[in-house]
Amino acid sequence: MNFTPFRRQDMETVQELLAADTRPVPPPLLEHHPSTLGSCDVSTESYLSADIHRLEVEHMWKKVWQWACRLEEIPNVGDHIVYEVAELSVIVIRVADGDSDGAVKAYYNACLHRGTQLRVDDGNVPMLRCPFHGWTWNLDGTLQWASCDWDFPEVTQSPEHFALPEVQVGTWGGFVFINFDPHCEPLLAYLENLPGHFEHYPLDNRFLAINVQRVMPANWKEVMGAFIEAYHSVVTHPQILPFTGDANTQYDIYQRHSRMITPFAVASPHIGGKHYEQAEIAKVLAAYRGTDAEDVVLPKGMSARAHAAEQSRLRIGAIAGADLSNICDSLMVDAIEYFIFPNFMPWAAYGSAIQYRFRPNGNDVNSAIMDVQMLMPFEGDRPPAAKVHKIAANEPWTSAPQLGGLGAIFEQDTSNLARVQRGLQASAKRTVTLGAYQEARIRHFHRTLDSYLVV
Ligand code: FES
Ligand SMILES: [Fe+2]
Repeated sequence: MNFTPFRRQDMETVQELLAADTRPVPPPLLEHHPSTLGSCDVSTESYLSADIHRLEVEHMWKKVWQWACRLEEIPNVGDHIVYEVAELSVIVIRVADGDSDGAVKAYYNACLHRGTQLRVDDGNVPMLRCPFHGWTWNLDGTLQWASCDWDFPEVTQSPEHFALPEVQVGTWGGFVFINFDPHCEPLLAYLENLPGHFEHYPLDNRFLAINVQRVMPANWKEVMGAFIEAYHSVVTHPQILPFTGDANTQYDIYQRHSRMITPFAVASPHIGGKHYEQAEIAKVLAAYRGTDAEDVVLPKGMSARAHAAEQSRLRIGAIAGADLSNICDSLMVDAIEYFIFPNFMPWAAYGSAIQYRFRPNGNDVNSAIMDVQMLMPFEGDRPPAAKVHKIAANEPWTSAPQLGGLGAIFEQDTSNLARVQRGLQASAKRTVTLGAYQEARIRHFHRTLDSYLVV
């Protein structure tokens, strides 16, 4: 089926920009898989209904692979993180050295005596000991000790029935995923074509440099929806238009997952696009990245894009102790954002090494937990993973200075989202209308979600 996505006629497509790249471009970037999903609306109930949230928990969150942590967050035996989604809580813990299957396990975070949460914080423990009556499990999940075991004949007769119930664990790219469904498909099958897309940009040899979390004032799907399209940039983030090809963005739809490529170091078609002065683009982008714009001298005939890519090769190459001279311009400057259903967005580019995660905040349909992380290359020993910096709900993103200019951008998004949630509650229309191309990833996400909810 031929599908010609709507596009402005006065702009370069991502594929045209890639054709002008100064280096060979990896094949996955040369693909375009536009949506064929049409333009139907999505019900506001998806963002408001406690009943739909319950369906999501039972039929989606309990069935899908979901990213829980990075391997480098739990480097030593006994290191663990507590991963929570809705009311579900899991301890992801390293039980052996190395990368073998079984070196990392995940347990339901509940005591088998009377249910107490075994861990409430990330950290390191030699064993898992309940704070209430002291029942204790070895790191491999076997029961080590139960206080007054003479009083629990069923425990002494069948201690194997009192091993900690496990959640499925899979690893890819330095990420630990968990799945509550014991009959789930293997992680690599779930990831579909995406591991191949990251072969030219492997994420396992990067470290967690920035780790920030905030409670957001809207349903988790609406929060995610603000980070899955570039359509809102022209009105919400006007400060980035001189160096962001927002309307040029390419949107790709796969089976469960999706991608968008937003070119940087080109001016938005909304403000003149390819007719914009190249030297001006280079200067504004340099200023945004914290370097002195007056120092930017664009050699005659060089595009701002080629210039920005060269600057990134030098800057990031020095950090990584690596020769990046063969890395294409796109990987050095563009935002290449993948979406792994249901809530994980790893980016595949040197210039923007971000990743996002969006979860319900407990069972509150009106708020969400958003994680923003950055994965950076390193030289020599792997630096320790950044501990999570939790921003209080009434504090701005800009209170996390490690986010740099992103903090102000996230504030613009957050201010919208509080109003979105209130507006959805007040809506007479009871649906949201989505663009056929620029918001196709949102529609595709809802199609995929619905396929889990209809049982
Ligand atoms: S509830 Fe855990 S030991 Fe009693
Ligand atoms: Fe935004």
